[in-house]
Amino acid sequence: MCGIVGYIGQQPAPPIILEGLQKLEYRGYDSAGICTIDGGQAHIRRSKGKLVNLARLLAAVPMQGSVAIGHTRWATHGKPTETNAHPHKAGPVVLVHNGIIENYLTLKKDLHCNNHNFKSDTDTEVIAHLIEHEMVRGSGFEEAVRAALQELKGAYAVCLVSETEPGMMIAAKHGSPLVVGLGDREFMVASDIPPILPHTREMVFLEDDEMVVFKDGSARFSTVSGDSLTKIARHIDWSPLLAEKDGYRHFMLKEIFEQPRTVQDTLAGRLLEDEEDVCLEDLGLNDSELAQVRRICIVACGTSWHSGLVGKYLLEEHCRLPVEVDIASEFRYRNPVIGPETLLIAISQSGETADTLAAVREATIRGARTISICNVIDSSIARETEGVIYTHAGPEIGVASTKAFVTQLVALYLLMLRLGRVGGSITLERMLPHFATLLHLPALMERALRLDSAAESIARRYQHAGDFLYLGRGINYPIALEGALKMKELSYIHAEGYPAGEMKHGPIALIDENLPVVVLALKDRHYQKVISNMEEVIARGGRVIAICTEGDNEVALKAESVMYLPECSEWIAPILLSIPLQLLAYHMSSIKGNDVDQPRNLAKSVTVE
Ligand code: G6P
Repeated sequence: MCGIVGYIGQQPAPPIILEGLQKLEYRGYDSAGICTIDGGQAHIRRSKGKLVNLARLLAAVPMQGSVAIGHTRWATHGKPTETNAHPHKAGPVVLVHNGIIENYLTLKKDLHCNNHNFKSDTDTEVIAHLIEHEMVRGSGFEEAVRAALQELKGAYAVCLVSETEPGMMIAAKHGSPLVVGLGDREFMVASDIPPILPHTREMVFLEDDEMVVFKDGSARFSTVSGDSLTKIARHIDWSPLLAEKDGYRHFMLKEIFEQPRTVQDTLAGRLLEDEEDVCLEDLGLNDSELAQVRRICIVACGTSWHSGLVGKYLLEEHCRLPVEVDIASEFRYRNPVIGPETLLIAISQSGETADTLAAVREATIRGARTISICNVIDSSIARETEGVIYTHAGPEIGVASTKAFVTQLVALYLLMLRLGRVGGSITLERMLPHFATLLHLPALMERALRLDSAAESIARRYQHAGDFLYLGRGINYPIALEGALKMKELSYIHAEGYPAGEMKHGPIALIDENLPVVVLALKDRHYQKVISNMEEVIARGGRVIAICTEGDNEVALKAESVMYLPECSEWIAPILLSIPLQLLAYHMSSIKGNDVDQPRNLAKSVTVE
């Protein structure tokens, strides 16, 4: 996730771009850049780190021009350096991009053969070269952009300028968002509404494969392939703060609803259907090194630890390797038994959690092979492990982790497939059904998000409860833990997660008519046993909130409250189950008037012991 912005009109463009980028900084903040067209020439300034660095640069050496494009980056391909910062230029063409170009390596190879030299490690630079290539072959700027965009696979929102057409700006999208602001002989584009609000409230939301060309004080809409379009502007009367959250009341809710899209980003370019294999580009270990792994040890903290627990079920079942999952602060002081045949997997959204980092260092000293699953590119844990699977969830602002968690689960699923292929436990035949499951996942998640209002009613019904118990079995047991953690960190209500089969060894004593018990009762191999556990709760007067499979009337008759999920493979059930549990905790916190995005006493990233 990155933020892009463009302006063309009569006003000085650089301050407008800078102000726009400030409003998009929530989309990424590891580097930023701007390009203006002035005197027929492109002038580019870029800087590493937060936007304030770029602002300082512009204050020291101001830029002119009334056409400009800007970018705030959340690195996906290539480290967060100045060279990798946008805008990228090839010949006369300069562009900013939000998205992931999945076929960039193939395109890059072809362009190399045609004497194109690349300065950055990004997928984006390929687009600039592709357009330049078309222009060298005789196309005009607009025609070249159309031709190049049709070669791309993956997601993009782009804004482009060219020294050959100083009075023109082009924008287009496929898969990533792009909003167009229509002013009086001035126009803006941006990844989101907030940068546009101070300038105009008349906005057009581009659909996939649509393009807009700004020239001579007008905006011309068309499809990327060239068919003209008439677009109707919408009047947006949101307050600036609401707009930053995309209309959602809190960042957490926005991030919950972003999850189908982020899962698509995690999967992008990684499922090689033709080769029936999974590509994990920065995994660090080659096939023969992976084949030597005899044992897996996962370390993490908080929500990331819960994703590690799900990983144990996935990896043991499909790769037939023993897996231990440790809380990082315990692992580092425990004198763990690990060595060269152990693969240590560190899971961390931030990549900076002190205990997880210390666990990685401990494992490295003891000779284990190390990889990580991180969201923040080039973070300490990503750097200190031999390989990394980036989750590509974009910046997570809400302190309680949601989209980072589900993308960690997807990353573990992908790793399971890779290890299973290498180790021979997943045959070609068994691979394709997994591909189908993953590709269908975002659509199922969209359906799970429809539980929003049901989750809100349930939160209202149980808002005065003093405790909650969450029960699950098998691969969904860690989701009971995660559901309880979400409830306590957001609503400040005490909550515990338990493996349902263990209930009779203690928690059953807590059950009375005041205790809501959330039972994860999907139709899977544990279904009958979970139902028995649910009956035990009901028999003791407990109030059951069941999450079950659509059409399950048996559970509906017994439970006090029910939420239904679509039927799904048991391997993605943890992801679907997470959604109603996130929504339940979110609404409980919001109803209680708590600070949803920054719950008391918590920090997003714990970089001290
Ligand atoms: C903090 C956050 C949690 C997070 C945990 C681990 O406690 O509040 O949401 O799960 O740290 O963070 P990491 O960045 O390592 O995943």
